Amino acid sequence: MNNEYLQDKEILDRRLNVLVQDFLPGDNILSAAMAYGVTAPGKRIRGALTLAFCRRFSVPEEQAIPFAEALELIHAYSLVHDDMPEMDNDDYRRGQLTCHKKFDAATALLAGDGMLNLSMEYLLSKRKLYQPHRFLDALEVLYFAAGAQGMLHGQALDKSGEKRTLSLDELLKLHRAKTGQLLLAPILIAQALSGINDDNYVNYSKHIGLAFQIKDDILDVEGSGDMLGKEPGKDAAEHKSTFVSILGLNEAKKHLDLEIDAAVRAAGEDEFLLWLAHYIKNREK
Ligand code: IPE
Ligand code: IPE
Ligand code: MG
Ligand code: MG
Ligand code: MG
Repeated sequence: MNNEYLQDKEILDRRLNVLVQDFLPGDNILSAAMAYGVTAPGKRIRGALTLAFCRRFSVPEEQAIPFAEALELIHAYSLVHDDMPEMDNDDYRRGQLTCHKKFDAATALLAGDGMLNLSMEYLLSKRKLYQPHRFLDALEVLYFAAGAQGMLHGQALDKSGEKRTLSLDELLKLHRAKTGQLLLAPILIAQALSGINDDNYVNYSKHIGLAFQIKDDILDVEGSGDMLGKEPGKDAAEHKSTFVSILGLNEAKKHLDLEIDAAVRAAGEDEFLLWLAHYIKNREK
């Protein structure tokens, strides 16, 4: 493991716990379901990337952390809804029962809505830490990434890929939207908060975004439920169009390698970014 990642993950786990305590004090089922989804043991990769890119651009940590937390809140909400029976119908996530299994479907639906809402409430509560135009620029890229041209667009394409086999071109669009956009958000947030642009980092982020979902498709076939914390074999069961279903395991792995190689080239000498690219390729969870 990489030290920068481990330190940032620890910061994020701690801060998300505090956030949940401060903003969801109620002893009611909705608060409990939201806290359950947010504090479950995720890898916090999107948040850690946000902190790393902000650090590269000298954005103060007190400005970077709220956006990293908000991105993790949005990601966690996307998982709660993704697991529901109308979407992927999963029983396990992050090594524990999915939100709708632990609670019920109505509560999971509202918990997801609540987590998305909380991401904005929380950021707005921190607005005095920022120069207004930088704050608004960062909000714009974050909520674009999550929206109907971003992650949600990808989720809609993913559902259409259950009804018919998508072309490789369509599959690339799907993956770049559903997973790529929330992994591109960290560099776009860092650019917005700092006013600095870096095309290499943007390229890096696009390549790891696609690689991340290709690997997820491969793990659904080759991974173990114990390691993944979610049940494998679900993509075939739900008739999903994935890199493996369309190209086969070997070609999927070749595509993964190409994306990782391109990410490594864009990473330069950055230790954390190089480590993360290799981690995404070799991860078992
Ligand atoms: C899972 O993302 C959903 C995909 C985009 C494949 P992660 O594998 O980053 O999930 P957590 O946050 O670590 O649980
Ligand atoms: C989910 O993709 C991506 C999201 C936007 C939540 P998957 O449906 O393949 O992710 P897993 O396999 O359930 O984690
Ligand atoms: Mg899905
Ligand atoms: Mg899923
Ligand atoms: Mg998957």
